Amino acid sequence: MKLQSILLTVLLLVSIQYCVKNTSVDPDAKYDRKVDSLLSIMSLKEKIGQLTLYTSDMDQTGAFLRPQYIDDIKSGSVGSIFNAYGSEYTRKLQEMAVNGTRLGIPLLFGYDVIHGHRTIFPVPLAEAASWDLQAIKKAAEVAAAEAASEGLHWTFAPMADIARDPRWGRMVEGAGEDPYLGSLIAAERVKGFQGNSLYDLNTIAACVKHFAAYGAAQAGRDYHSVDMSERMLREVYLPPYKAAIDAGALTVMTAFNDLNGIPATANKFLFDQILRKEWGFKGFVVTDYTAIMELLYHGVAKDKHEASALAMNAGIDMSMQDGFYDQTLADLVKDKRINEKQIDIAAARILKVKFKLGLFEDPYRYSNAERQKAEIMKPENIDAAFDMAKKSIVLLKNENEVLPISNKVKTIAVIGPLADSKRDLIGSWSAAGDWSKSVSLLEGLKKKFPSANFIYEKGSEIDKDDKSGFNKAVSAAKKADIVILAIGEAFWMSGEAASRTDIGLPGVQEELAKAVHAVGKPVVAVLMNGRPLTINWLEENVQAILETWFLGTTAGDAIAEVISGDYNPSGKLPVTFPKNVGQIPIYYSLKNTGRPFKAEDKYTSKYLDVSNEPLYVFGYGLSYTKFNYSPIQLSSSEMAENGTLTVSVDVTNSGKYDGEEVVQLYIKDKVASVSRAVRELKAFEKIMLKKGEAKKVSFQITKEQLSFYRADMSYGTELGEFVVFIGGNSRDTQSATFLLKK
Ligand code: NOJ
Repeated sequence: MKLQSILLTVLLLVSIQYCVKNTSVDPDAKYDRKVDSLLSIMSLKEKIGQLTLYTSDMDQTGAFLRPQYIDDIKSGSVGSIFNAYGSEYTRKLQEMAVNGTRLGIPLLFGYDVIHGHRTIFPVPLAEAASWDLQAIKKAAEVAAAEAASEGLHWTFAPMADIARDPRWGRMVEGAGEDPYLGSLIAAERVKGFQGNSLYDLNTIAACVKHFAAYGAAQAGRDYHSVDMSERMLREVYLPPYKAAIDAGALTVMTAFNDLNGIPATANKFLFDQILRKEWGFKGFVVTDYTAIMELLYHGVAKDKHEASALAMNAGIDMSMQDGFYDQTLADLVKDKRINEKQIDIAAARILKVKFKLGLFEDPYRYSNAERQKAEIMKPENIDAAFDMAKKSIVLLKNENEVLPISNKVKTIAVIGPLADSKRDLIGSWSAAGDWSKSVSLLEGLKKKFPSANFIYEKGSEIDKDDKSGFNKAVSAAKKADIVILAIGEAFWMSGEAASRTDIGLPGVQEELAKAVHAVGKPVVAVLMNGRPLTINWLEENVQAILETWFLGTTAGDAIAEVISGDYNPSGKLPVTFPKNVGQIPIYYSLKNTGRPFKAEDKYTSKYLDVSNEPLYVFGYGLSYTKFNYSPIQLSSSEMAENGTLTVSVDVTNSGKYDGEEVVQLYIKDKVASVSRAVRELKAFEKIMLKKGEAKKVSFQITKEQLSFYRADMSYGTELGEFVVFIGGNSRDTQSATFLLKK
């Protein structure tokens, strides 16, 4: 007995030693063994089945699966289903796979859980305006918990596409224009969805999309071609995807576009070289909707077989919806155009995710009616959505401190086509969100100002020419002490296939604003929209402007919280607002050019008809209070290449309210082997300051923030002078210079 326990202890110690020493022990090895033994008993057809994903059409038709897909599930020709949710429905489909097929391999259920599942959070672009990484992570956690309680295992999010063209409707789904902010946000979203372990019942697998550079579609037209230098790709577009992969994202989705002539879904350079070889990605890649079939329209494949071979050879593991893999892979193996080993590898990657989710132990563990009931829209979830919504609002203008409105206000006119809308508030890609449960602005205001008298007038539709409602709107304004004017876009005007060439206020809304403004009462414009809008007239004329995007289930309450001053707005724009579409693409981190703008010199880089300046710069957003920045203090005027430098400022709240400020740090490399951006965001910190309070905010500069792709495309630093800027937006900053030395 004694000898036995000594032996056991020795064994234990040896194995611990082994694990500590042998850092190459792969935590996934146990899954790999399981996957390998399963693969060894699977037929080629069964393996190919794992590479196929079909929709259940739930959004259009309810819980309905096309009859041929039912047959496909039962014959093992499909391994995953999307657009199916609900504990009962997913259980029913799962039973078909588990009981109906030879090996009983469970299905994987995916869905576009983009900004909440049932409790809808602000659209992703709005969340990015909070610059609050913890709140963003929390939003993804809540979305995952609700989705997982309805049988879902996998979300097609986050969208990590950098977007610098507001004509592109899908800008709403991302984090805006900046690679640094975009990277941090993409990583938090992945961590929020996937949690500490995919095995936990409140987590789901993330899918980073759309790889790659989908946001750079020419002229902002959705699905359009992308042509860009490798430098631009690596410096600007790739970092957010990479950050999501580094955060552990288990899956990646291909983009619809071609990149420099090669469609993403057939792009070996993107998937084999960059994603797998350079970044070490181990998960699986799914196409976007029918994207293998679309290789025919791209004109790079003459038939189904060629299209599938291209995708498979590029390293794409799962086909979404076109069924091309199912229809062709067996032939391609037979004809030796692809190798069965490639199919094994793809199937293994997918099966591994199923193992990680625990589906082989219990295929129904996510489809639990009781958990669904307890989880969906529970008070904590609504609270998290409300917190996120308040933080996503950006105050763009506040002349004469017209905001916040005193609770003694007598009559408020609430005017505009979005003033009492509910549907629009949950935005596009609103998953299984029920818009009838969202709080309209009018409802939120009425709750917040119980003793005020409200007059509501719609005034006009969002996108129609009818002005017959103007008179009533004007007379409402006349009777009121203040006008809240809710204008902007309908929810369907941003999102997929929702590009616009005119990004002004649709319909007659600007004319409505002019008519109401002419009455002479203070006007607060509350914007609801999924992209930057060209709102020059509003900026020049109305007293206050609140950018509220589409804030989700609690939108009306969150806006009322800001209007009343119970929450002091703290959002900052994650994207530049142009003055007109002719300035697009416009973003803060541009190059200086050889002829930087000089008003007195014709032959400098500018337009004849509009200034180079945007309407609102990146990082901009006001508060009800005022923040003052001291000059920058440097720990030294020099930094050793492998050392660090501390950069600090004192920020003082010199206004009348407590408030939060996003302190932003930008860097410029003055002289380098390639022309560098005029400034680039490299760090930020969101701080809370009581009225009258001051705080020192310090940042550590390291080599990483100074590195870039040099003229020879190697990555690293170049010695010389750098300028560091710190401020409350990308334009109004303090600056200091330091020298990077050997
Ligand atoms: C097409 C979209 O581009 C993609 O983002 C989405 O995840 C899929 N459809 C599935 O709905």
